[in-house]
Amino acid sequence: MKKLLGIVLAGAMVVSGCGAEAQAPAKESVENEEAVTTETTEEVKEEVKAEETEEETVDTTLKEVFAKHGLKVGTCVSSSELNKRSFKETVLSQFDSLTVENAMKPDSALNQAKSKEEGKVVVDFNKEVLTILEFARENGFSMRGHTLVWYSQTPEWLFREGFENSGDFVDRDEMLKRMEDLISGTFAKIEELGYTDLFYAYDVVNEAWMEDGTMRDNHWLEIIGDDYLWYAFYYADKYAPESIDLYYNDYNEQYKADTLVKFVETLKDEDGRYLIDGIGLQAHLYTSDNLPGYFKAVDKLAETGLKIQLTELDVCLGKYQAPLEATDDNLVKQGKFYYDLINGIFERVDAGKLKLDAFTFWGFSDGYSWRREYSPLLYDKSFNPKYALYGALQIKDKAGY
Ligand code: GLA
Repeated sequence: MKKLLGIVLAGAMVVSGCGAEAQAPAKESVENEEAVTTETTEEVKEEVKAEETEEETVDTTLKEVFAKHGLKVGTCVSSSELNKRSFKETVLSQFDSLTVENAMKPDSALNQAKSKEEGKVVVDFNKEVLTILEFARENGFSMRGHTLVWYSQTPEWLFREGFENSGDFVDRDEMLKRMEDLISGTFAKIEELGYTDLFYAYDVVNEAWMEDGTMRDNHWLEIIGDDYLWYAFYYADKYAPESIDLYYNDYNEQYKADTLVKFVETLKDEDGRYLIDGIGLQAHLYTSDNLPGYFKAVDKLAETGLKIQLTELDVCLGKYQAPLEATDDNLVKQGKFYYDLINGIFERVDAGKLKLDAFTFWGFSDGYSWRREYSPLLYDKSFNPKYALYGALQIKDKAGY
């Protein structure tokens, strides 16, 4: 399998050239791309066999490279993506950990009708979750759970009287009860379905802090008050199996490090024991970002003694709201950025300065990225490897250097 992947990767480069001008793709073109990609891949395999001496093969994979540092390496997935051959093949060959991109978020995982019927929050995973969990089980993947308490992708009815879409908010006590049921119900459902052993980490709270150090305004905060975050971890600690690490996960982490250091100190029980295990750095970055500054934040957070994970890595060309074209120059810059970022993480892990056991990319093909106009991932929309992939694989001379 490894050899074949190498041939396919190298073959794709014969056709496209490494990191050749990927245009920011439209969604429709991605949906129709599968047949074309499959056919091209077959042709390319033949072509490469004929020319094997000319093209170098990549005979390593992300999971081999990350495993050398004791790390799992993951990507987010949806079940429709897993139905596409080129997508699935890459998932199988490159990664050993998965995050469900959307379907385990509260707006998909909570059942309004059943909650009304039972008068309490009911967790009820849909077919997409079951498909992904079964895929993970069959193919030996570990799972990162994402996410429980969040201001976004969370239904209005969760906060309102009678689980109705509108009307009065419930009071603090009822909201705490609903939070407890959401959290206990999630872990109970995973256990009931027989998948507990797949999960090694769970994002208990997502994106609760602002860059200026204030708490993000949201219904949880409005109804429960400032201690809603403490309760979220209290319940997660109470109901999650010991084997699942509990994470706080956020973006713009390089600007929030001081805030987060103070915050995690509050997440302790009466004996001073942490209710949290780790801090998830989403790492939605830009090629214009300052890497030394980023590492300063990582080092500061590591000093808490908690685990750290990069949970949603992508590196956009350009800066916020100013995407750059996928020209060779820009893709080279991105390749170097991926190389340097991952190299810096590996160095810290190897030196014992960072307790980091997993690293997750927020997808791997530009065609499937939520930020596709910035071409942020490791492969272009046709699954051709970019400099970024070689950066992630730590093959320096192919990463744009
Ligand atoms: C945040 C969330 C992710 C995802 C991205 C956008 O980072 O944590 O789940 O929604 O935004 O895709």
